Amino acid sequence: MKYTITLLPGDGIGPEVSASAVAIVEATGVAVEWERHEAGLRAVEAGHGTLPEATLDSIRRNKVALKGPITTPVGRGFSSVNVGLRKALSLYVSLRPVLSWKGLKTRHDDVDLVVFRENTEGLYAGREHEVVPGVVEALKVITADASTRIARYAFEYARWRGRRKITVVHKASVMKLSDGLFLDCARAVAADYPFIEVEEMPIDRLAMQLALDPTKFDVLLMENLYGDIVSDLCSGLVGGLGIVPGANIGSSAAVFEAVHGSAPDIAGQNKANPIALVLSAAMMLEHIGERVAAERVRRAVGKVLAEGKVRTGDLGGKASTTDMTKAIIAALPAIEEVTA
Ligand code: NAI
Repeated sequence: MKYTITLLPGDGIGPEVSASAVAIVEATGVAVEWERHEAGLRAVEAGHGTLPEATLDSIRRNKVALKGPITTPVGRGFSSVNVGLRKALSLYVSLRPVLSWKGLKTRHDDVDLVVFRENTEGLYAGREHEVVPGVVEALKVITADASTRIARYAFEYARWRGRRKITVVHKASVMKLSDGLFLDCARAVAADYPFIEVEEMPIDRLAMQLALDPTKFDVLLMENLYGDIVSDLCSGLVGGLGIVPGANIGSSAAVFEAVHGSAPDIAGQNKANPIALVLSAAMMLEHIGERVAAERVRRAVGKVLAEGKVRTGDLGGKASTTDMTKAIIAALPAIEEVTA
């Protein structure tokens, strides 16, 4: 079977790390025809908007995309392409697995948690306006529908993956209506899963607890802004942005992308760590049913990290993006090793 998948190489280090992910998927033997499309700065430079209709149409048609990071210029005139993509395709789930890897020196070992972030509303609904010069308002939009569907997804995920505990994160003591509604919806969904332990935690306490001992957590469920910040925080706990993958999932499409951005400071220098996007591609392979290929990629990454001979700058080494790509391909285990 040959899959058709949309590829958005993205900006900055995006083309380098996506070339790596594509080469590694190819090396697994899974046949993919990549439909390349632009978004972000490169789309603007090519004379289109930041999010061309052809790009959205391709993802709607193929249902699956692999996406490099996209630069969103700061300030007026440009709305975030990432937020626009998630809203246009209703990718309401952001799922980011955060895992300790053997061989990487970090403050905590044995971190194994998953961050679920509501992806379409909250403060990222983009409802900002100037009341009078010098006074702006940003609206935090929380709906029962969106809160319930992300909670349902997180609980179903926990059930199928054998995860034991979900921590619902909020600041309902201050944002009584908005975070209060998010919490109420999560509680209502939780009632259907009496076999999963549920705890509720204010976002500020979570930040401290994550710094002290992240191994206490299993699945974290929260609204958009908290999830954005907590995902980066959790990346830092296990070795940085270069190794944490992610998925944006909706009912009719899924876009796989790393947590990190376009890293303009190292773009075009063959220095970027491709692992975050490579692991996102492994999540993509799993999503389309290619579980063995996904596991081979994860094991190859684990082997390269554990050996520690090939490391990019963010992990304290000197290896290039292409060195890392070659090392991962060379470390791919045989199919029999994974299926045995
Ligand atoms: P960033 O994640 O691009 O970079 C932060 C720091 O981490 C930089 O020092 C960078 O060199 C390093 N870094 C990031 N990924 C790396 C990798 N794979 N290998 C080695 N080092 C890596 O965050 P920043 O600087 O805040 O954002 C830059 C641009 O990226 C902005 O335009 C922002 O809007 C965009 N962005 C896009 C995202 C997406 O497309 N999903 C997510 C986050 C930011």
